[in-house]
Amino acid sequence: QDDISLELLTVDWVSSQIPPRPLDSHKGTYGHLLVVAGSRNFVGAACLVARAAHRAGAGLVTLATPESVYPIVASQLTETIHLPLPEDAEGRVHADAAQVIHEGLTRYDALAVGSGLGQSENTLAFIEGLLVDGPVSTIPTLVDADGLNNLARLPDWWQRRSGPLVLTPHPGEMATLTGLSTLEVQRDRAAMARQWATQWQAVVVLKGAFTAVAEPSVPSTNGEQYEGLVRLSPFANPGLASGGTGDVLTGIIGSLLAQGLAPFDASGCGVYLHGQAAAAVTSAQGPVGLLASEVSEALPLTINSLR
Ligand code: APR
Ligand code: MG
Repeated sequence: QDDISLELLTVDWVSSQIPPRPLDSHKGTYGHLLVVAGSRNFVGAACLVARAAHRAGAGLVTLATPESVYPIVASQLTETIHLPLPEDAEGRVHADAAQVIHEGLTRYDALAVGSGLGQSENTLAFIEGLLVDGPVSTIPTLVDADGLNNLARLPDWWQRRSGPLVLTPHPGEMATLTGLSTLEVQRDRAAMARQWATQWQAVVVLKGAFTAVAEPSVPSTNGEQYEGLVRLSPFANPGLASGGTGDVLTGIIGSLLAQGLAPFDASGCGVYLHGQAAAAVTSAQGPVGLLASEVSEALPLTINSLR
């Protein structure tokens, strides 16, 4: 509990983790990500996650979004497969959408859930049905944004589910999840991420300047505990302090999960690639006026120059 093993994320380590691209590979080689995102008020979030997932190398990306959002996002996403979901009167996912997703779940190699879903009784029941009380899932799952805000309203959610999990809270979402203040969350970010990673048995990506990525400690059968590591991002970049950049991170980590990286490695690589792609944009044009979508567009060159 007292001594935390910290590691700085480095270019060499990230390069060693990027999946190889054999000449005779095909789209199945690089995995199929299901993104569950968006609502009438947050249409762009769904596009940002899906597009970043493509740019980070997933073989296939399916976007599940409320049915009235679907025609709008479909016009923006040429390469994406679409799964329109039942919605409520406000254009947010209906509770019944969890069942629709369960029916086709085995097609996907990873799930990224939550960006721009909004919060209502329906989104709460949807998140509960999909992530907490649904059939036990072995599919690696990332939860972000309103996925986290809805989870936080379900008491002891972590005791009611199992399976590989990544949570990507910003400090405000971390405060909501833990019941602490943002000030308390920010006091010792590495310790905070590690403590709650263990509590929730999930990888915790505590976002912000120098993002902390923590893996859970795991008690073993002989009573000895495996002590989880914390990896720290070397990037502080005020250019990233603009709406939608977190959605891009969700797409990148989701994409790497679909490509077969383990949750802790996918999270560390994703955070690094996101920071490096943003650095490429701001070193060319400065920190003011960065668009989240520009981070996505910088990903191919960032990734391909590491490999
Ligand atoms: N230095 C480095 N990285 C930063 C910095 C900084 N100074 N500021 C922000 N970032 C990075 C974070 O680490 C994270 O990866 O930018 C991203 C911001 O993510 P979010 O805070 O989730 O922002 P956003 O994409 O706008 O979220 C969209 O979802 O989380 C909700 O309330 C949020 O409604 C909003 C929506
Ligand atoms: Mg966010």
